[in-house]
Amino acid sequence: MFATPSPDPMLAPPMEFPDFPHTNILDADQFSRKDLEVILEQTGKMEQLEQARRAFGLLEGRILASLFFESSTRTRLSFETAMNRLGGRVISTVGFQFSSISKGETLYDTMKMIEAYADIAVIRHPVEGSSRIASAAVQMPVINAGDGSGQHPTQALLDLYTMFKERGGVDGLRVAFVGDLKFGRTIHSLIKLLQHYDVEMVLISPVDLALPESYRKELRKKNKVFEETEDTKALWDCDVAYVTRIQEERFVDRSEFERLKNSYSINRAFVMASRKSTLIMHPLPRVQELSTDVDDLPNAAYFRMAHYGVLVRMALLTLCLRVPLPPLTPTL
Ligand code: CP
Repeated sequence: MFATPSPDPMLAPPMEFPDFPHTNILDADQFSRKDLEVILEQTGKMEQLEQARRAFGLLEGRILASLFFESSTRTRLSFETAMNRLGGRVISTVGFQFSSISKGETLYDTMKMIEAYADIAVIRHPVEGSSRIASAAVQMPVINAGDGSGQHPTQALLDLYTMFKERGGVDGLRVAFVGDLKFGRTIHSLIKLLQHYDVEMVLISPVDLALPESYRKELRKKNKVFEETEDTKALWDCDVAYVTRIQEERFVDRSEFERLKNSYSINRAFVMASRKSTLIMHPLPRVQELSTDVDDLPNAAYFRMAHYGVLVRMALLTLCLRVPLPPLTPTL
Protein backbone atom coordinates (compact mmCIF):
# COMPACT_ATOMS: atom_id res chain seq x y z
CA MET A 1 0.00 0.00 0.00
CA PHE A 2 1.31 3.43 -0.90
CA ALA A 3 0.23 6.46 1.07
CA THR A 4 -1.36 9.16 -1.10
CA PRO A 5 1.16 12.03 -1.13
CA SER A 6 -0.25 15.31 0.10
CA PRO A 7 0.14 18.06 -2.50
CA ASP A 8 3.20 20.24 -2.03
CA PRO A 9 1.89 23.83 -1.98
CA MET A 10 5.09 25.04 -3.65
CA LEU A 11 4.65 22.65 -6.54
CA ALA A 12 0.89 22.73 -6.93
CA PRO A 13 -0.77 25.89 -5.62
CA PRO A 14 -4.45 25.23 -4.92
CA MET A 15 -6.79 26.10 -7.73
CA GLU A 16 -9.32 28.68 -6.62
CA PHE A 17 -12.83 29.17 -7.87
CA PRO A 18 -14.06 32.77 -7.86
CA ASP A 19 -17.09 33.97 -5.93
CA PHE A 20 -19.59 33.61 -8.77
CA PRO A 21 -23.15 32.59 -7.81
CA HIS A 22 -24.56 31.85 -11.28
CA THR A 23 -24.76 28.53 -13.12
CA ASN A 24 -27.15 29.83 -15.82
CA ILE A 25 -26.64 32.91 -18.01
CA LEU A 26 -30.13 33.98 -19.04
CA ASP A 27 -30.50 37.74 -18.74
CA ALA A 28 -28.15 40.69 -18.32
CA ASP A 29 -30.29 41.70 -15.33
CA GLN A 30 -28.94 38.83 -13.27
CA PHE A 31 -25.48 40.34 -12.81
CA SER A 32 -24.16 42.62 -10.09
CA ARG A 33 -21.12 44.81 -10.79
CA LYS A 34 -19.05 42.33 -8.79
CA ASP A 35 -20.25 39.48 -11.03
CA LEU A 36 -19.19 41.49 -14.07
CA GLU A 37 -15.76 42.07 -12.54
CA VAL A 38 -15.42 38.31 -11.94
CA ILE A 39 -16.36 37.54 -15.56
CA LEU A 40 -13.96 40.16 -16.93
CA GLU A 41 -11.16 38.90 -14.68
CA GLN A 42 -11.84 35.27 -15.66
CA THR A 43 -11.75 36.34 -19.34
CA GLY A 44 -8.43 38.12 -18.82
CA LYS A 45 -7.01 34.97 -17.20
CA MET A 46 -8.38 32.89 -20.05
CA GLU A 47 -6.58 35.15 -22.51
CA GLN A 48 -3.29 34.53 -20.69
CA LEU A 49 -3.91 30.78 -20.50
CA GLU A 50 -4.71 30.70 -24.20
CA GLN A 51 -1.53 32.62 -25.03
CA ALA A 52 0.45 30.10 -22.95
CA ARG A 53 -1.52 27.25 -24.59
CA ARG A 54 -2.63 26.06 -21.15
CA ALA A 55 -6.41 26.26 -21.54
CA PHE A 56 -6.77 23.02 -23.48
CA GLY A 57 -7.93 20.17 -21.27
CA LEU A 58 -9.78 22.29 -18.68
CA LEU A 59 -13.13 20.94 -19.90
CA GLU A 60 -11.90 17.55 -21.07
CA GLY A 61 -14.72 15.01 -20.79
CA ARG A 62 -17.46 17.70 -20.78
CA ILE A 63 -20.04 18.03 -23.54
CA LEU A 64 -21.69 21.25 -24.74
CA ALA A 65 -25.10 21.01 -26.44
CA SER A 66 -25.22 23.79 -29.03
CA LEU A 67 -28.91 24.39 -29.77
CA PHE A 68 -29.46 27.04 -32.41
CA PHE A 69 -33.09 27.27 -33.53
CA GLU A 70 -32.41 30.62 -35.21
CA SER A 71 -29.60 31.57 -37.60
CA SER A 72 -26.19 32.49 -36.23
CA THR A 73 -22.57 32.63 -37.33
CA ARG A 74 -20.66 34.30 -34.51
CA THR A 75 -22.43 33.12 -31.38
CA ARG A 76 -22.73 29.48 -32.37
CA LEU A 77 -19.24 29.11 -33.79
CA SER A 78 -17.58 31.08 -30.99
CA PHE A 79 -19.24 28.93 -28.30
CA GLU A 80 -18.24 25.79 -30.19
CA THR A 81 -14.69 27.12 -30.65
CA ALA A 82 -14.55 28.01 -26.95
CA MET A 83 -15.54 24.46 -25.96
CA ASN A 84 -13.05 22.95 -28.41
CA ARG A 85 -10.26 25.20 -27.16
CA LEU A 86 -10.97 24.00 -23.63
CA GLY A 87 -10.73 20.35 -24.72
CA GLY A 88 -14.45 19.63 -24.41
CA ARG A 89 -16.77 18.25 -27.07
CA VAL A 90 -19.82 19.66 -28.82
CA ILE A 91 -23.11 18.15 -29.96
CA SER A 92 -25.45 20.38 -31.90
CA THR A 93 -28.75 20.94 -33.60
CA VAL A 94 -29.33 23.79 -36.02
CA GLY A 95 -32.80 25.01 -37.04
CA PHE A 96 -36.18 23.60 -36.09
CA GLN A 97 -36.37 21.51 -39.27
CA PHE A 98 -33.58 19.19 -38.10
CA SER A 99 -34.93 18.82 -34.57
CA SER A 100 -37.95 16.82 -33.39
CA ILE A 101 -39.51 20.15 -32.40
CA SER A 102 -40.64 20.14 -36.07
CA LYS A 103 -42.66 16.98 -35.21
CA GLY A 104 -44.38 18.74 -32.32
CA GLU A 105 -41.99 18.01 -29.46
CA THR A 106 -41.98 20.71 -26.79
CA LEU A 107 -38.89 22.66 -25.78
CA TYR A 108 -39.35 21.16 -22.29
CA ASP A 109 -39.12 17.57 -23.58
CA THR A 110 -36.25 18.48 -25.89
CA MET A 111 -34.27 19.86 -22.95
CA LYS A 112 -35.05 16.79 -20.82
CA MET A 113 -33.47 14.64 -23.54
CA ILE A 114 -30.46 16.88 -24.00
CA GLU A 115 -29.71 16.82 -20.29
CA ALA A 116 -29.01 13.09 -20.68
CA TYR A 117 -26.45 13.81 -23.42
CA ALA A 118 -24.65 16.99 -22.35
CA ASP A 119 -23.23 18.83 -19.32
CA ILE A 120 -24.17 22.35 -20.42
CA ALA A 121 -26.41 23.84 -23.12
CA VAL A 122 -26.35 27.05 -25.08
CA ILE A 123 -29.62 27.97 -26.79
CA ARG A 124 -30.74 30.50 -29.39
CA HIS A 125 -34.46 30.64 -30.04
CA PRO A 126 -36.75 33.12 -31.81
CA VAL A 127 -39.16 33.39 -28.87
CA GLU A 128 -38.42 35.88 -26.09
CA GLY A 129 -38.09 34.10 -22.72
CA SER A 130 -37.41 30.67 -24.26
CA SER A 131 -34.02 30.21 -22.60
CA ARG A 132 -35.70 30.63 -19.20
CA ILE A 133 -38.21 27.89 -20.14
CA ALA A 134 -35.33 25.69 -21.32
CA SER A 135 -33.41 26.28 -18.11
CA ALA A 136 -36.41 25.52 -15.90
CA ALA A 137 -36.65 22.05 -17.47
CA VAL A 138 -33.16 20.89 -16.46
CA GLN A 139 -30.52 20.86 -13.75
CA MET A 140 -27.58 21.46 -16.10
CA PRO A 141 -26.39 25.02 -16.81
CA VAL A 142 -28.15 26.81 -19.68
CA ILE A 143 -26.81 29.87 -21.50
CA ASN A 144 -29.04 32.23 -23.49
CA ALA A 145 -27.45 32.86 -26.91
CA GLY A 146 -30.24 35.24 -27.98
CA ASP A 147 -34.01 34.94 -27.48
CA GLY A 148 -36.04 36.81 -30.08
CA SER A 149 -35.79 40.55 -29.53
CA GLY A 150 -35.31 39.96 -25.79
CA GLN A 151 -31.75 39.49 -24.53
CA HIS A 152 -28.31 38.41 -25.72
CA PRO A 153 -26.28 38.53 -22.51
CA THR A 154 -23.09 36.83 -23.72
CA GLN A 155 -22.80 39.32 -26.60
CA ALA A 156 -23.14 42.17 -24.09
CA LEU A 157 -20.40 40.62 -21.93
CA LEU A 158 -18.06 40.49 -24.91
CA ASP A 159 -19.01 44.08 -25.74
CA LEU A 160 -18.04 45.06 -22.20
CA TYR A 161 -14.74 43.18 -22.48
CA THR A 162 -14.09 44.98 -25.78
CA MET A 163 -14.47 48.36 -24.08
CA PHE A 164 -12.03 47.34 -21.35
CA LYS A 165 -9.51 46.03 -23.87
CA GLU A 166 -9.79 48.89 -26.34
CA ARG A 167 -10.48 51.85 -24.03
CA GLY A 168 -8.96 50.65 -20.75
CA GLY A 169 -12.24 50.64 -18.82
CA VAL A 170 -15.87 51.66 -18.93
CA ASP A 171 -16.35 54.30 -16.21
CA GLY A 172 -16.31 57.78 -17.72
CA LEU A 173 -17.17 56.72 -21.26
CA ARG A 174 -19.82 58.36 -23.41
CA VAL A 175 -21.41 55.56 -25.42
CA ALA A 176 -23.65 56.01 -28.48
CA PHE A 177 -26.10 53.29 -29.52
CA VAL A 178 -26.91 53.66 -33.20
CA GLY A 179 -29.66 51.90 -35.12
CA ASP A 180 -32.48 49.55 -34.27
CA LEU A 181 -32.83 50.10 -30.54
CA LYS A 182 -36.33 48.65 -30.56
CA PHE A 183 -35.58 45.11 -31.69
CA GLY A 184 -31.80 44.92 -31.11
CA ARG A 185 -31.36 42.41 -28.28
CA THR A 186 -27.63 43.03 -28.02
CA ILE A 187 -28.40 46.67 -27.23
CA HIS A 188 -31.01 45.68 -24.65
CA SER A 189 -28.49 43.53 -22.80
CA LEU A 190 -25.57 45.97 -23.08
CA ILE A 191 -27.67 48.87 -21.76
CA LYS A 192 -28.46 46.77 -18.70
CA LEU A 193 -24.78 45.97 -18.09
CA LEU A 194 -23.66 49.58 -18.55
CA GLN A 195 -26.02 50.67 -15.78
CA HIS A 196 -23.42 49.28 -13.36
CA TYR A 197 -20.90 51.86 -14.58
CA ASP A 198 -20.58 55.63 -14.65
CA VAL A 199 -21.36 56.15 -18.35
CA GLU A 200 -23.37 58.60 -20.42
CA MET A 201 -25.51 57.03 -23.13
CA VAL A 202 -26.65 58.61 -26.40
CA LEU A 203 -29.51 56.75 -28.09
CA ILE A 204 -29.48 57.41 -31.84
CA SER A 205 -32.34 55.89 -33.85
CA PRO A 206 -35.31 56.68 -36.04
CA VAL A 207 -38.27 57.47 -33.75
CA ASP A 208 -40.01 54.28 -34.84
CA LEU A 209 -37.03 52.17 -33.72
CA ALA A 210 -36.50 53.87 -30.35
CA LEU A 211 -35.47 51.97 -27.24
CA PRO A 212 -38.57 50.37 -25.65
CA GLU A 213 -40.06 52.41 -22.82
CA SER A 214 -39.36 49.70 -20.21
CA TYR A 215 -35.59 50.18 -20.75
CA ARG A 216 -35.85 54.00 -20.72
CA LYS A 217 -37.91 53.85 -17.54
CA GLU A 218 -35.23 51.74 -15.90
CA LEU A 219 -32.51 54.22 -16.93
CA ARG A 220 -34.53 57.11 -15.47
CA LYS A 221 -35.21 55.18 -12.26
CA LYS A 222 -31.49 54.59 -11.79
CA ASN A 223 -30.69 58.25 -12.59
CA LYS A 224 -28.58 57.27 -15.60
CA VAL A 225 -27.66 60.05 -18.01
CA PHE A 226 -29.02 59.46 -21.51
CA GLU A 227 -30.00 61.53 -24.52
CA GLU A 228 -32.16 60.56 -27.51
CA THR A 229 -31.78 61.84 -31.04
CA GLU A 230 -32.27 60.83 -34.66
CA ASP A 231 -29.06 62.59 -35.73
CA THR A 232 -26.12 60.21 -36.23
CA LYS A 233 -23.71 63.17 -35.90
CA ALA A 234 -24.31 62.84 -32.16
CA LEU A 235 -21.79 60.00 -32.17
CA TRP A 236 -18.97 62.42 -33.01
CA ASP A 237 -18.54 63.44 -29.38
CA CYS A 238 -18.81 59.88 -28.05
CA ASP A 239 -15.96 57.59 -27.00
CA VAL A 240 -17.74 54.52 -28.34
CA ALA A 241 -20.36 54.09 -31.09
CA TYR A 242 -22.21 50.77 -30.96
CA VAL A 243 -23.74 50.47 -34.42
CA THR A 244 -26.42 47.88 -35.23
CA ARG A 245 -28.37 46.78 -38.29
CA ILE A 246 -32.11 47.12 -38.63
CA GLN A 247 -33.50 43.74 -37.55
CA GLU A 248 -35.46 42.86 -40.70
CA GLU A 249 -36.62 39.51 -39.31
CA ARG A 250 -38.50 41.12 -36.39
CA PHE A 251 -40.83 43.33 -38.46
CA VAL A 252 -44.45 42.19 -38.67
CA ASP A 253 -45.21 44.80 -41.34
CA ARG A 254 -42.84 44.45 -44.33
CA SER A 255 -43.63 47.94 -45.61
CA GLU A 256 -42.38 49.39 -42.30
CA PHE A 257 -39.02 47.70 -42.81
CA GLU A 258 -38.83 49.00 -46.40
CA ARG A 259 -39.55 52.53 -45.15
CA LEU A 260 -36.88 52.41 -42.44
CA LYS A 261 -34.16 50.20 -43.91
CA ASN A 262 -31.95 53.01 -45.22
CA SER A 263 -32.49 55.41 -42.34
CA TYR A 264 -28.80 55.70 -41.50
CA SER A 265 -25.41 54.69 -42.87
CA ILE A 266 -21.97 55.18 -41.36
CA ASN A 267 -18.96 55.43 -43.67
CA ARG A 268 -15.27 56.20 -43.34
CA ALA A 269 -15.51 59.94 -43.95
CA PHE A 270 -18.27 60.20 -41.38
CA VAL A 271 -16.27 58.30 -38.74
CA MET A 272 -13.15 60.38 -39.42
CA ALA A 273 -15.09 63.57 -38.73
CA SER A 274 -15.31 62.54 -35.07
CA ARG A 275 -13.06 64.57 -32.79
CA LYS A 276 -12.62 61.72 -30.33
CA SER A 277 -11.42 58.83 -32.50
CA THR A 278 -14.68 57.14 -31.56
CA LEU A 279 -14.33 53.38 -31.13
CA ILE A 280 -16.65 51.75 -33.67
CA MET A 281 -18.25 48.57 -32.39
CA HIS A 282 -20.86 46.40 -34.09
CA PRO A 283 -22.19 43.00 -32.94
CA LEU A 284 -22.47 42.00 -36.63
CA PRO A 285 -23.85 40.90 -39.01
CA ARG A 286 -23.94 44.23 -40.82
CA VAL A 287 -25.96 45.07 -43.90
CA GLN A 288 -25.82 48.59 -45.32
CA GLU A 289 -25.59 50.64 -42.09
CA LEU A 290 -21.79 50.34 -41.80
CA SER A 291 -19.65 50.73 -44.88
CA THR A 292 -16.73 48.38 -45.52
CA ASP A 293 -14.48 51.43 -46.02
CA VAL A 294 -14.50 51.81 -42.20
CA ASP A 295 -12.94 48.37 -41.70
CA ASP A 296 -9.27 49.29 -41.82
CA LEU A 297 -9.52 52.28 -39.49
CA PRO A 298 -7.65 51.52 -36.25
CA ASN A 299 -10.74 52.44 -34.22
CA ALA A 300 -12.92 49.86 -36.02
CA ALA A 301 -13.12 47.15 -33.35
CA TYR A 302 -15.77 44.82 -34.74
CA PHE A 303 -13.53 42.16 -36.26
CA ARG A 304 -11.29 42.10 -33.18
CA MET A 305 -14.48 41.41 -31.19
CA ALA A 306 -14.61 37.92 -32.72
CA HIS A 307 -11.48 36.99 -30.73
CA TYR A 308 -12.80 38.58 -27.52
CA GLY A 309 -16.05 36.62 -27.98
CA VAL A 310 -14.26 33.28 -27.85
CA LEU A 311 -12.36 34.29 -24.69
CA VAL A 312 -15.50 35.53 -22.92
CA ARG A 313 -17.34 32.33 -23.80
CA MET A 314 -14.42 30.19 -22.60
CA ALA A 315 -14.59 32.09 -19.32
CA LEU A 316 -18.37 31.61 -19.06
CA LEU A 317 -18.18 27.88 -19.76
CA THR A 318 -15.65 27.39 -16.97
CA LEU A 319 -17.62 29.60 -14.57
CA CYS A 320 -20.97 27.92 -15.25
CA LEU A 321 -19.40 24.46 -14.94
CA ARG A 322 -17.56 25.61 -11.82
CA VAL A 323 -14.16 24.52 -13.10
CA PRO A 324 -11.27 26.35 -11.43
CA LEU A 325 -8.44 27.74 -13.54
CA PRO A 326 -4.83 26.75 -12.95
CA PRO A 327 -2.50 29.36 -11.46
CA LEU A 328 -1.08 31.75 -14.02
CA THR A 329 2.41 31.99 -12.53
CA PRO A 330 4.66 29.15 -13.67
CA THR A 331 5.31 26.49 -11.03
CA LEU A 332 8.49 24.45 -10.60
N1 CP B 1 -23.60 38.99 -32.88
C1 CP B 1 -24.35 37.90 -33.14
O1 CP B 1 -25.19 37.48 -32.31
O2 CP B 1 -24.10 37.31 -34.33
P1 CP B 1 -24.75 35.95 -34.86
O3 CP B 1 -26.22 36.21 -35.07
O4 CP B 1 -24.03 35.62 -36.13
O5 CP B 1 -24.56 34.90 -33.80
